[in-house]
Amino acid sequence: MRYSESLIEEVRERNDIVDVISGYVQLKKKGSTYFGLCPFHNEKSPSFSVTPGKQMYYCFGCGAGGNVYTFLMEYENFTFPEAVEHLAERCGMPLPKKEEDSKEARKEADQKTSLLEIQKEAARYFYYQLKSERGALGLSYLKKRKLSDAIITRFGLGYSNKTSNDLYFYLKKKGYQDELLKESGLVTIEERGTYDKFWNRVMFPIMDVRNRVIGFGGRVMGDGEPKYLNSPETKIFDKSRNLYGMNEAKNSRRPNFIICEGYMDVISLHQAGFTNAVASLGTAFTSGQASLMKRYAQEVLLTYDSDKAGVKAALRAIPILKEAGLSARVISLSPYKDPDEFIKNMGSEAFEERIIQAKNSFLYEIEMLKREYQMEDPEQKTRFYQETAKKLLGFPEELERTTYMEAICKEHQIDYEGLRNMVKRFAYQMGGQPLVTIKTNPKPIQKQGKEGGIKESQRLLLTWLIEDTSLFEKLKNWISPRDFTDEFYHIVAEMLYQQYQEENTVNPARIISKFTKEEEQREVAELFHTTLQTPMDEKQRETAVNETVYKIKQNWCEYAGSHASDFAELEEIKKVKRSLQDLHISLT
Ligand code: UTP
Ligand code: MN
Repeated sequence: MRYSESLIEEVRERNDIVDVISGYVQLKKKGSTYFGLCPFHNEKSPSFSVTPGKQMYYCFGCGAGGNVYTFLMEYENFTFPEAVEHLAERCGMPLPKKEEDSKEARKEADQKTSLLEIQKEAARYFYYQLKSERGALGLSYLKKRKLSDAIITRFGLGYSNKTSNDLYFYLKKKGYQDELLKESGLVTIEERGTYDKFWNRVMFPIMDVRNRVIGFGGRVMGDGEPKYLNSPETKIFDKSRNLYGMNEAKNSRRPNFIICEGYMDVISLHQAGFTNAVASLGTAFTSGQASLMKRYAQEVLLTYDSDKAGVKAALRAIPILKEAGLSARVISLSPYKDPDEFIKNMGSEAFEERIIQAKNSFLYEIEMLKREYQMEDPEQKTRFYQETAKKLLGFPEELERTTYMEAICKEHQIDYEGLRNMVKRFAYQMGGQPLVTIKTNPKPIQKQGKEGGIKESQRLLLTWLIEDTSLFEKLKNWISPRDFTDEFYHIVAEMLYQQYQEENTVNPARIISKFTKEEEQREVAELFHTTLQTPMDEKQRETAVNETVYKIKQNWCEYAGSHASDFAELEEIKKVKRSLQDLHISLT
């Protein structure tokens, strides 16, 4: 069901954000802003702010932010239409009834609710079995693996019986129909008969960030195959956007996350005090999981198995983490296979030590690269240097590149000048120009280093425009939406300029509603709150605005230059370039 923009806007306007959020979080007024304890991460002093003027919230601690819709999407896990419906009902606004359409949507929502109930029932059932006589086998297995009662309870571990359809009958008795049970992924219903998917396994309920059971992993007792069986994806279980243990780990006081491969690893790490451990769900690590982590932390520690497959998994995960703006380090577990074994043999202090020693992900990549070459062979050795030099070109900032170059040379006993010359030569070959800065990405629309460079400038300018709409006039000879070459900021800029043109003001909360994905809303919200943290005096501000505009125009010239298709465009770019020499914008 899609609602019209005007309707979405009206619903939003009729639900004051302070009122709505007050229903969930205790807020205290300070000046024109309300503050409270952030419901999206664990904290002791309030950094969660709600600004009635902007109709937005923002947490200075974890970066959660958005308008009233975003809040409900994050807090209640509503989809965008669900958030609209909820708020419409709250203010008693009738929504247009396209009969089938809304019936369909309602059915879908009801089904989701029932599926969640079923998973919860199943988790309770498995837990109960584990503690009963029939579950003795499972319980003794967990004990053998050194899990305490407390941790078993905290993770809600359970046991599925040897009988092959008792869960099915249990759920049937609770009144759930076959059709729905089929969708739950917990039972197989065939003509031959009906079977539980899991039997004779210790059960690991998988929870989403809101502690709702969405699926299961089950480990076989003994040596059967497969060792771990996982729930299939269902309407409520999206493996690519969830992480095992995240419901606990997100509240950890540790500054980062530890990703490992297995359920048992997560649990033993938590038991040893590393409550920031999570695992992907029997599948390769995804960008959805990276952005989930980005909501709560800046750094991720990788602890994949030290075998070949583990290294491969780590090398695959690193670029995904980087892309999401997270920094990564790799923990060495050697000589042990996984964190569970490491902790059992070495204890938690030794693991803490390994965290401190964890290797920067780039240096790790180089080390793994080196393993592919026979370093006694001069030709292979040279090839390793060449590959290393090429990888170094990935750093757009000279200083950063130099730092890495030094570290690599030291670690692998490489001649610094030699490597540096090689890097320079490659840069020259690739860019056709001497090394000043090298772009990894030929387009200035870049995803690299979230806070770095041109993207940051575009973002800053947008926040200034929102804070002080008089800038629209002052910058009108210089800046228009096309100067925002970052795809996302470009869209936001277009909306802002349009609002300003039509209404002489801007309305950030309305812009947020135009994005229906939670991550996008969050990013817009973040954008709208940047300046609150950087007070400047008039003069400083003027200098900053001029410098930023200059940077943005320069970037546009480069960008347009590499995309120009005819002579007239090139002429225009030249003209803009020339005019930049006279750039002076006065803010008074
Ligand atoms: P491992 O085989 O490394 O398991 O698989 P582990 O965690 O060390 O298991 P234990 O210690 O023997 O109990 C790592 C992860 O890969 C997935 C599971 O998520 C598991 O936790 N996996 C493994 C499967 O999904 N299916 C399998 O058959 C095996
Ligand atoms: Mn293991």
